[in-house]
Amino acid sequence: MDKEGSLSKAQVIMPTYNRFPITLVKGKGSYVWDDQGNKYLDYTSGIATCNLGHTPEPVKQQVQEQLDSLWHCSNLYHIPSQQQLAEKLVENSCGDQVFFCNSGAEANEAAIKLARRYAQEVKGTNASEVVTFTNSFHGRTLATLAATGQEKIQKGFAPLTPGFRYLPYNDPSVLSTVVSEQTCAVLLELVQGEGGVIPVDQEWLNQLSEICKQNDILLMVDEIQTGMGRTGTLFAYQQYGIEPDVISLAKGLGSGIPIGAIIAKEEAAKAFTPGSHGSTFGGNPLATTAGLATITELVETDVISESAILSDYLVEQMRQLQANHSSIKDIRGRGMLLGIVVEGNAIDYVHKAREHNLLILVAGPQVIRVLPPLTTDRQEVEEFTAIMAKVFEEIEEV
Ligand SMILES: Cc1ncc(COP(=O)(O)O)c(C=O)c1O
Repeated sequence: MDKEGSLSKAQVIMPTYNRFPITLVKGKGSYVWDDQGNKYLDYTSGIATCNLGHTPEPVKQQVQEQLDSLWHCSNLYHIPSQQQLAEKLVENSCGDQVFFCNSGAEANEAAIKLARRYAQEVKGTNASEVVTFTNSFHGRTLATLAATGQEKIQKGFAPLTPGFRYLPYNDPSVLSTVVSEQTCAVLLELVQGEGGVIPVDQEWLNQLSEICKQNDILLMVDEIQTGMGRTGTLFAYQQYGIEPDVISLAKGLGSGIPIGAIIAKEEAAKAFTPGSHGSTFGGNPLATTAGLATITELVETDVISESAILSDYLVEQMRQLQANHSSIKDIRGRGMLLGIVVEGNAIDYVHKAREHNLLILVAGPQVIRVLPPLTTDRQEVEEFTAIMAKVFEEIEEV
């Protein structure tokens, strides 16, 4: 692209993202193509969104049919695909009722609103504080950036929405301080994604869950990144033996068609009554058709269990890389949400990988984040490993 071209692109889009210098125009399965015809192995899955790979056939077919019938009609009318998607989410989780929106931040907004209203309208208290954790990421709206325990996300947006208290993640010494008179909910990720691919500690989570139960405080898990099969089960909480009161979802729910949702247990869901919350696009026919086709594929095939088996193979391959490269400090994560902790700058590895036609991400300055589609196979895992071996060799040579 010439200089003039890139300048005019920069002028019309606000520079909220540092973009990589490629333009993607096509995707199929685990691969994407740029406008120059170059093919890349996409182990970012559009940031944990295209869990069934790019343009998956079962979702495409349903969305194409829906495009021929009805795109949008508002929530003033019944929407069959919304009803069916809600039924599938409820059948496959510990929750009872669903609210639909359009993104992860909106899902967490809904969760926060539900928690406050539950405390104030259902329990009849003044509690409004939501406890969250350092290094968390919950979104970029005014409330969800305030919920996010990272200063860099909050910088410049003061005054921050009040009502959040941050505690160190996985730290047993803070458990006794979780509950105050003001606390109405705890919100956490079970693997902190953006914060560095940090899995929750089982014992700590057990205790946290127990504290919530005993004090009638809502346990809300942000499964926006970990959900829809990403960590080896439909929802990550299913591996930990806990039952959240509220689950927030987005990303993988629509295979790339924008959609968000919260699923809540009946008691918590009571807090939302007609007029208390809403969204023009939330749960619209097109988005929920994509969601329904996606969850149907996830729960009615063995794609998730196969991905969990393949994750073990991928981790094994990464550990072999680690044995050969001292710059790899740790491999961590769950399922197809994996992190490689490196000595240098993670972004250097991401750039080098792209030069070798592999797309990966960072999660903080020193963690490479690897998010393959759940549908990837052994051959692609080996292609990934071979490229990463070259990337580590070339960076270590410098
Ligand atoms: C755990 C988590 N919560 C919330 C969000 C925000 O989602 P969205 O970008 O769809 O608003 C993200 C996005 O990365 C996320 O990873």
